[in-house]
Amino acid sequence: MTALAVQKLQKSFGGLRVTDAVDLTVEPGERRLIIGPNGAGKTTLFITGELSPDAGSITLFGRDITRVPSHRRPHLGIARTYQIITLFPRDTLLRNVTLSLLGLSKLRWNPLIRLDGQPALIAQARNVLARVALDHLAERPLAQTSYGERRRVEIAMALAQNPRVLLLDEPFAGLSLEERRDVLALVSGIPRDVTTVMIEHDMDVALDFAERMRARGVRSSPTRARGRSILSSDALVLSEVDAFYGDSHVLHRVSLRLPEGRLLGLLGRNGAGKSTSLNVVVGLLPPRHGVVSVYGRIVTGRAPEAIAAHGVALVPQGRRVFRSLTVRENLAVAGRRPRGESERRHQIAASLSGGEQQMLAIARALMANPRVLLMDEPSEGLAPQIVAEVMATIRRLKAEGLSIVLVEQNPKLVFDVADDIVILNSGRVVLEGAAAEVRLRVAELHQHLGIY
Ligand SMILES: Nc1ncnc2c1ncn2[C@@H]1O[C@H](COP(=O)(O)OP(=O)(O)O)[C@@H](O)[C@H]1O
Ligand SMILES: [Mg+2]
Repeated sequence: MTALAVQKLQKSFGGLRVTDAVDLTVEPGERRLIIGPNGAGKTTLFITGELSPDAGSITLFGRDITRVPSHRRPHLGIARTYQIITLFPRDTLLRNVTLSLLGLSKLRWNPLIRLDGQPALIAQARNVLARVALDHLAERPLAQTSYGERRRVEIAMALAQNPRVLLLDEPFAGLSLEERRDVLALVSGIPRDVTTVMIEHDMDVALDFAERMRARGVRSSPTRARGRSILSSDALVLSEVDAFYGDSHVLHRVSLRLPEGRLLGLLGRNGAGKSTSLNVVVGLLPPRHGVVSVYGRIVTGRAPEAIAAHGVALVPQGRRVFRSLTVRENLAVAGRRPRGESERRHQIAASLSGGEQQMLAIARALMANPRVLLMDEPSEGLAPQIVAEVMATIRRLKAEGLSIVLVEQNPKLVFDVADDIVILNSGRVVLEGAAAEVRLRVAELHQHLGIY
C-alpha cells in the first residue's frame, strides 16, 4: 500500500488559479526529497492540512485525509518538524522544548498552565533530548546552543510523536557544513518504518543531500515540484488564517495580500482582530490553520526571530519602548548598531513626548532594515499635529519602497496613504479593495467601523 498519495490538488488563491499543483506518490519506507524554489512548500501545507484544497485528494496508507482537519492529522500518523519556540533564549533548552511540546499538545496556548505541574511533558522533553544525544545540554540556556543542536531537537520532537510519515521542512536551512553533517546523520538514522518526505528550496543543498544519501546506500528519490507558487512574490500574504487564544477563536480564515512597495490599510473596530493578525505575521501567535508567506517564502510556524530575519518588523501598539532605557539603549536592544544618532540619544525614553516615543518605536523597527513594516495604530493617543508628522514619516517610508501594513481604527487617516484596504469585523474580512473604491462605500464603512 502506498504510504502517501497526493493527487491533482487544486487551489485558487486570490484570483490566481493553481492547477496541477501537486501529484506525489511515496512508498512506505521511502526517503523522498522534493526540490523547488516555490511550489515545494505548499506540498507540506496541503499534507498537514494547514491549507485546504479546492479539489484533489490526499491519502495516507489508503485512508482519505483530504478533509481531516490539521489538528487531527498527527493522530493519523503524520508529523512535521516545528521550530522550537525560541521566545525565551535565556531559559534552558529543556524548558523551551517542554514549551514547544506543550504547543503541540491539546493543552496548547492555555496561558494559565504551569509547566512545573506537567511532569509528563517534562519527561517527554527529556526523552526527546536523549534521543538526539543532547541530554547533557538540558539545563543550558537556549541562547547558548547552536542552530544545528536546535535542528536536531526539532527532528527528535517530530519523531517523539511516533509518526508513520514524517515531513521535514528545510532541515538544513541556515546550518554550517559541520552542522549539516550532524543533521544528515540524524535523518539517515530515522527508523526505516518512518516514511520521510523532505522539502528543500535551495537547489544546491538538495542535490548535495541526495548525493550524500546515495553515498550511504539509502534510496532517496528527488522530485521537482511543479506548478506555480501559490503564494507569489507579494511582500506579504496571509491565506485562510485561523488564530486562537486558548479556546477563543479570534481570526476566521483571514486572507490578505500586500504587494511589494504598497501600503495596505488594515481597519476595524477595537477587538476586530487587527493586532492579532500582526501577531500571527511576526510569529508571536502561530495560526491553527492557514499560511503566512513573505516574498513567497512560507514563514508560518517559524520563530519570531526567523521571521524578522526574513525582513519583517513590527511597530507594536502602544509604542512599546523600554521606558527606563535611553534612546540609544532602546535602539541598541533592537539588535543593530545605532546609526545616525540624534542629540537626544542619552535621554531616557520615558521623558520623551508621545510623538517622540512613537518615532523612537518606528526607528527601532527600522534598525533591522526591514522590507515589510507592520505598524499597529501609530496615531493612537497622539495630538493631531503629531499625528500629521507620523503620517508624513509613513509616506516617506513608502516612497523609499518599503511595503507597509498600517493598522488603524480611524479610517480617515488611512484612506489618504493606503493603496488597498482590508476591513476586519469580529475576526473576519468583511470588506476589501482599492482605497479609492472602499472609501466610497459609506454604508458598509459605517456598519463595520461605526463612527465613519
Ligand atoms: N492575549 C489575549 N488573550 C485572549 N484574548 C485576546 C488576547 N489578545 C486579544 N484578545 C481578544 O482577541 C480579539 C481580537 O483582539 P485584537 O487583535 O487585539 O483586536 P484589535 O487589535 O483589532 O483591537 C478580541 O476579542 C480580544 O479581546
Ligand atoms: Mg489592536
